[in-house]
Amino acid sequence: MGDSVARVASTSCSAEFLSRDQRKRCCEIDFALIGHQESWRAAADVLAVLRGPEHTPLPDDEIKDILPWIPPRPVCHVHVESIGGAKARGLYIDSFIPPDRLEASYTLDNVARVRAAAACAIKAGVKIVSMVGSWSLGLGGFSSILMEGNFDYFREKQDTVFTTGNTLTVAFIVQGIQKMCALTGRNIRRSTLLIVGATGDVGSGCARCLAPIVRRVLLSARNLERLHRLAAELKADGVQVEIATDLEQFSVEPDLVICAASLASPSLLLGRIAPGAIVCDAGYPKNLSPSAQTPGVKIFFGGLGQIAGGLRFTPDFHGILNRHPFPDMVHGCLLEGMALALERRLEPFSQGRGFITQERVAEIETIAARHGIYLAPLYNADGPLEETDESYRLSQLRFA
Ligand SMILES: NC(=O)c1ccc[n+]([C@@H]2O[C@H](COP(=O)([O-])OP(=O)(O)OC[C@H]3O[C@@H](n4cnc5c(N)ncnc54)[C@H](OP(=O)(O)O)[C@@H]3O)[C@@H](O)[C@H]2O)c1
Repeated sequence: MGDSVARVASTSCSAEFLSRDQRKRCCEIDFALIGHQESWRAAADVLAVLRGPEHTPLPDDEIKDILPWIPPRPVCHVHVESIGGAKARGLYIDSFIPPDRLEASYTLDNVARVRAAAACAIKAGVKIVSMVGSWSLGLGGFSSILMEGNFDYFREKQDTVFTTGNTLTVAFIVQGIQKMCALTGRNIRRSTLLIVGATGDVGSGCARCLAPIVRRVLLSARNLERLHRLAAELKADGVQVEIATDLEQFSVEPDLVICAASLASPSLLLGRIAPGAIVCDAGYPKNLSPSAQTPGVKIFFGGLGQIAGGLRFTPDFHGILNRHPFPDMVHGCLLEGMALALERRLEPFSQGRGFITQERVAEIETIAARHGIYLAPLYNADGPLEETDESYRLSQLRFA
């Protein structure tokens, strides 16, 4: 195990994997993306690239043994270009949180990993950092600690700012719901919307954006007090709201559903929903249990965008870091950091929990669109849901 891990671990938290020339330009890095892999397959693919083509792939059981020992480190450069001509250079930093350690019991360890990944970004002189992951897993929570200015453990911190990226995520979820309604001829104004994980940063942002345009909203999460607080806020604006900690308790069946709960694995069973309902799974990892997929229900993966100017990884991690059926497709939270870097607006745009409003969503949508960052074509585990140039070839494949 020692030899296997040494090659990928030895450059932890430094820029040693870069060439001398690249190192010299480290201070010019505009953005960093901090992530973790959703599956063992994805983690294995990342390790294979880091070890190099001259090494035979590691067996699955060895990968499971070594991954927890790999410290967070930058794994590649990311280059993006705006349709307006601006360019930004970034780093992808993997926190190497093992896919089976996303439960609450690992929060302290995960926070330590995100802290180490953030230290890598600061050390590399990155200007803006965004990260994929939820508050409840300790990742969003950590970013808020950073943004509230608690930098005691980063003596070298210069001007690095952090954004959760959740505002652009909300924008793409809302746009996805509206697009699916249009594609299926659904009148959104007559719909009943259920949000699972409604009190979270993403869920509450979606509630604020969509409640004014649907007929009724059903809010679900485990903590009743937070549900009451959000319901009161929406009711004050004249929205019809029901709350429940148990999905079976709602008095009506929803025909629109957003799943934005921070679950460690795809384990959500939706229970009673209307036949032909539209369901957006925005979780990372996914929320919906594969056995929950009711025939006739239209599921799509939400919160994803695409950058028209293109996305380049050095070394080449295409299809490994962005495992989607369309090119240049990325999670909204990471795209938010790229959009802000291209805009040269280096500020913690999304911070804290529960502050995402319609106005902020409109603002980040405008910034993103100026740089050619739009809602990605919709897809689910069976493939693309709409015709695009790429979709014919890709419709033969399955995407997880
Ligand atoms: N697609 C993207 O680009 C993207 C970007 C950012 C985040 N995400 C994903 O979106 C999800 C939410 O992120 P977030 O930052 O909003 O997280 P968050 O602020 O931690 O909110 C999580 C929500 O889920 C609820 N929840 C947790 N466990 C639950 C359970 N077992 N059953 C029902 N509800 C539960 C929480 O409330 P209670 O604790 O009261 O249950 C809370 O309402 C995560 O999966 C995250 O990875 C995706």
